[in-house]
Amino acid sequence: MRVLSGVQPSGKLHLGNYLGAIKQHIELQHQYAGDAFYFIANYHSLTTINDAQQLRQLTLDVALDYLALGLDPEKATFFRQTDIPEVTELTWILATVTGKGLLERAHSYKDKIAKGIAPSMGLMCYPLLMASDILIYKSNIVPVGKDQVQHIEMTQDMAGYFNNTYNCEVLVRPEAKLNEAQIVPGIDGQKMSKSYGNSIDIFDTPKKSRKRIMSIQTDSTPVEDPKDPDSCNVFAILKLLATPEETAEWADRYRAGGMGYGDVKKRVAELFEETLGPARERREKLAGDLDAVEDILVDGAKKARNIAKEVMAEVRDACGLVIARELHG
Ligand code: ADP
Ligand code: TRP
Repeated sequence: MRVLSGVQPSGKLHLGNYLGAIKQHIELQHQYAGDAFYFIANYHSLTTINDAQQLRQLTLDVALDYLALGLDPEKATFFRQTDIPEVTELTWILATVTGKGLLERAHSYKDKIAKGIAPSMGLMCYPLLMASDILIYKSNIVPVGKDQVQHIEMTQDMAGYFNNTYNCEVLVRPEAKLNEAQIVPGIDGQKMSKSYGNSIDIFDTPKKSRKRIMSIQTDSTPVEDPKDPDSCNVFAILKLLATPEETAEWADRYRAGGMGYGDVKKRVAELFEETLGPARERREKLAGDLDAVEDILVDGAKKARNIAKEVMAEVRDACGLVIARELHG
């Protein structure tokens, strides 16, 4: 069983990204060791980022972030989307068997236009490229957030359109695996998000992270009074980082009264540091050896590309596209 997911390079990671998505990716590499594929979706980013220097930097940042957070290149195949040019070839072929209406129904396309992103053909064809990313490795399981599920359903449809059109079984129907993490609240209690300015970033300095945690909004119940853990933003984050036993102890302390929010914030800051401090150190080390990072991405791309080439050969064969083998290495 092959598991695959893509990550768009889109800026600084926060605790919500880690607990909501990245942690699951890293855990799955153990369960699917040898057959877990993760890639940096930099072709997709061209639909929103048009600054070359920024795109190069963001691409490198994702690589450093994932490796620092525990992606193990011995277990998972990690690469850049652009190192697999077959992906864009398959995108075209899928476009020829896919009705325009399917793409017009994409929620993500409509949401992005509503946010003011230019309605380019690239943005419209985003789901074709994503389907190609998945189908070119005959991926079985695709771990994603809820917002991406429609794209996986479209991928299933596209695999079917191709197989039906050419009366073959070349493309494999993938299944989405929903990240089961709850919504991580930001320092104001709303969903943590880059665009709300309420995030606790993963790779800030320890001092800055601590300051962010100490600024989580709380109510004004006096220290001596009992408090409700379930309506407290600090407790909501503590719960995601502490063991169930420790969480239960803090809940008792809330209800008993005599505990100030400052105490629980300090503990959250400690837990944050215990969970993510080592990743910060690993990231600094990796940033000092970019050649090693490049080697990991190149090794990953070689492995991924071997599969992509084989599948593309089957696809071309199924639809009668002839190429000169000696020109394609
Ligand atoms: P942002 O909202 O900060 O722009 P993205 O949309 O780039 O975040 O999210 C990337 C991944 O992180 C998605 O798969 C999403 O499921 C997950 N994620 C983002 N914010 C949260 C959150 N507050 N709680 C849980 N998961 C989140
Ligand atoms: N669209 C995905 C996102 O924004 C990223 C992505 C690109 C992806 N290609 C993929 C995810 C293939 C899973 C599989 O999060």
